[in-house]
Amino acid sequence: MGVYPDIVVEAKNLVKSYNGIPAVKGINFVIRARECVGFLGPNGAGKSTTVKMIYCFLPITAGELYVLGLDARRHQRSIKSQVGVVAQEDNLDPELTVKENLLLYASYFDLPGRVAQQRAEELMNFIDLKDKASTPVEELSGGMKRRLAIARALLNNPKLLILDEPTTGLDPEARRLIWEKLCQLKERGVTLLLTTHYMEEAAYLCDRILIMDEGQILAEGSPGELVNKYIGKEVIELAPVQEAQAEKLVAALASKVLGYQLVGETLFLYSNNGRSIWQDISGRHRYLRHQILRPATLEDVFLKLTGRGLTK
Ligand SMILES: Nc1ncnc2c1ncn2[C@@H]1O[C@H](COP(=O)(O)OP(=O)(O)OP(=O)(O)O)[C@@H](O)[C@H]1O
Ligand SMILES: [Mg+2]
Repeated sequence: MGVYPDIVVEAKNLVKSYNGIPAVKGINFVIRARECVGFLGPNGAGKSTTVKMIYCFLPITAGELYVLGLDARRHQRSIKSQVGVVAQEDNLDPELTVKENLLLYASYFDLPGRVAQQRAEELMNFIDLKDKASTPVEELSGGMKRRLAIARALLNNPKLLILDEPTTGLDPEARRLIWEKLCQLKERGVTLLLTTHYMEEAAYLCDRILIMDEGQILAEGSPGELVNKYIGKEVIELAPVQEAQAEKLVAALASKVLGYQLVGETLFLYSNNGRSIWQDISGRHRYLRHQILRPATLEDVFLKLTGRGLTK
């Protein structure tokens, strides 16, 4: 394990328990160089716990974990020096300026003064915060703070950048700006590992997605692969539908329906031939106030795998 330079992270039967209660329950995955991999999952799924083990913030409970070819049980210091981290909780120093935050952090990596100055300038340029160099962090917008946290994580020129919910709480424009920067990093060959609650973000940025729930990995693949495998080409949404009625409808449509899910009173029908189903049902169910046909998305996969609705 860990001998292939192409493999940046390798986890085997990885377990993390808090006071004997497992939060990550023996997961297996690999992250390859220059990939962007996303962990998707509902609150409490174990995403942060997993990434915290990778950046050696938390010791592993059982299993094996190799980061950049190094055993995470034994080489924490070396791993930390080669990995960049944007944690879920913003831990910038609010009273210091943008530049001071960068220089302070550079000192933790023992970067010589002149190198630190130069890196700070480059990174403020990269992240479009040059004109905020002397602004205290507490005066920045949420999006600017998040960009500064990314710049700070890049000070040590990491081979692997880990971002735990990089855009949560940001407005759409601020989010897009961060996506752009992450794409540029990817082009430069940085391996990216991120967690997110935004399906659109995962679909936009990630080459591969791992869907987690209750400490386990439920599915893995590119966004397109996951949509094809679990849903099909199209989804029809109908509401309000009761359970017995849903089963009747699905039975009548027979093989045209690949699967379905009833979430509350909304019935989601999965199909590779949504238009044909649409023709079968449209006009016949006028009491259904919500009827739409649309392309399948990653959100459908997420709902199917982690939702608690009636499903096939
Ligand atoms: N320090 C801790 N002590 C005890 N239990 C913890 C601790 N941190 C997390 N947990 C528990 O471990 C489980 C996984 O939490 P984790 O933070 O990894 O989930 P997550 O997928 O990152 O969720 P979110 O999307 O809300 O950030 C949860 O049940 C959580 O309550
Ligand atoms: Mg989390």
